[in-house]
Amino acid sequence: MNNSSFAHRINYICFTASLGGLLFGFDTAVISGAINLVKAQFSLDALVEGWLVSSGLAGCIIGVFMTGFLSDRIGRKKTMMLSAWMFLISGIGCSLSFSMVPLIIARIIGGIGVGIASVVSPMYIAEFAPADKRGRMISYYQLSITVGILLAYFSNALLVSLSQNNFESAVLTWFIKEETWRPMFLVMSIPSFIFLIMVLKIPESPRWLVLINKRDKAERILNTVRAPKQAEVELQDIEKAAKKSTGEKISLLSKSIRLPLLIGIVLAVLQQLSGINAIIYYGPSIFKSAGIADNNALLFQVIIGAVNLLFTFIAIRSVDKYGRRFLLLTGLTGIIFSLLFCGFLFYTGHTGSILLLFLILLFIACFAFSLGPVTWIIINEIFPTAVRVKAVSICTLALWIAVWIVGQFFPWLLEKAGAAVTFWIFAAFSIINFFFCLKVVKETKGKSLEEMESVFVVPH
Ligand code: BGC
Repeated sequence: MNNSSFAHRINYICFTASLGGLLFGFDTAVISGAINLVKAQFSLDALVEGWLVSSGLAGCIIGVFMTGFLSDRIGRKKTMMLSAWMFLISGIGCSLSFSMVPLIIARIIGGIGVGIASVVSPMYIAEFAPADKRGRMISYYQLSITVGILLAYFSNALLVSLSQNNFESAVLTWFIKEETWRPMFLVMSIPSFIFLIMVLKIPESPRWLVLINKRDKAERILNTVRAPKQAEVELQDIEKAAKKSTGEKISLLSKSIRLPLLIGIVLAVLQQLSGINAIIYYGPSIFKSAGIADNNALLFQVIIGAVNLLFTFIAIRSVDKYGRRFLLLTGLTGIIFSLLFCGFLFYTGHTGSILLLFLILLFIACFAFSLGPVTWIIINEIFPTAVRVKAVSICTLALWIAVWIVGQFFPWLLEKAGAAVTFWIFAAFSIINFFFCLKVVKETKGKSLEEMESVFVVPH
């Protein structure tokens, strides 16, 4: 094999794992189109509606916990397959639910899939990617999340427009015209099935194999993705680091893990407290209430989704060149500027102009090349292999709890304190994030996961 076939293979492996992100994005976005239809069909009151929406998040939390134990026991690959099964079962289960209880259970199962994928997919990529391309490859995962969100919007919109047609078949009339939310969920089983088949073909993470003393297998796999010399050096480094951390008995409670854990948790929480999901999901209604859009919610959702996707390419191209800190600090500067300015427009009542639209898109663009991908990159590269799954699970759990907090309190805050204050609160958290990145976060570009241990894991 030559260098280009190694690159080909590693791209294929990381691309496959990144599809976990696509299902994460699809599953979390599909509900926004389906909820009103489900609500009308089952005459849901506000409480049950809340359960339906939050059931996905509850599942996520269960999924993250499960991954903390599972992926060290059964391996990264099998854990990823489990997430694919969860997505598949959830898509089929939701579409065949005839009452709220099975629907909520099926949503919880999908949420478990999201929780598992959000830990294991980027972590697997981090463990496989060569050091000089790791940032780029974990950014594929972020790109997949944005593609998943967009796909869900498109497929929801397509199904709504299909439902305007008349069908000869009674089944199609029932399934597409009368109960359009069913195919909305069912569509997810297509990428889930593809993901499942593709994961079957990728190898196990060599770093995990070394951890469970399967050195020969790790060596064989490394030799399929690196030139022989490089594979040998990397294997020695992995083994040395594994011996060191078992010798020192590194655990989550070790003093030496505190700094990386602090960085991972703070970055995860502050990524969400920038208000990203509030803006992605409520953006169109913000435009509507500001008088910019009347009934074009979907168009604005698609514009937001497209900008989110396009600007992720900047991270893909530059994160291994200019570094994580540079992207974080530049992106956060744009994020803070746009949030402060949006708040100002609402405060002064100048919201009817195109300027608001521009500022929201600026926010999304800056998030897409900085906080979006770089948070996931850093969380997945700073921990030693011996504790990586558990530590990444804790950070990801913190991220999902922050998703829940923002989802829970954003509408309330908007109503009680108004849009200006809400934007300024998000701006305040992003200012904290800026200084945290400036003072505490260290540059990790180009370092191997084993070298990273000497950057972050200070001796105790
Ligand atoms: C965040 C998600 C968000 C997505 C938007 C991810 O990095 O973790 O919460 O919905 O970016 O693209």
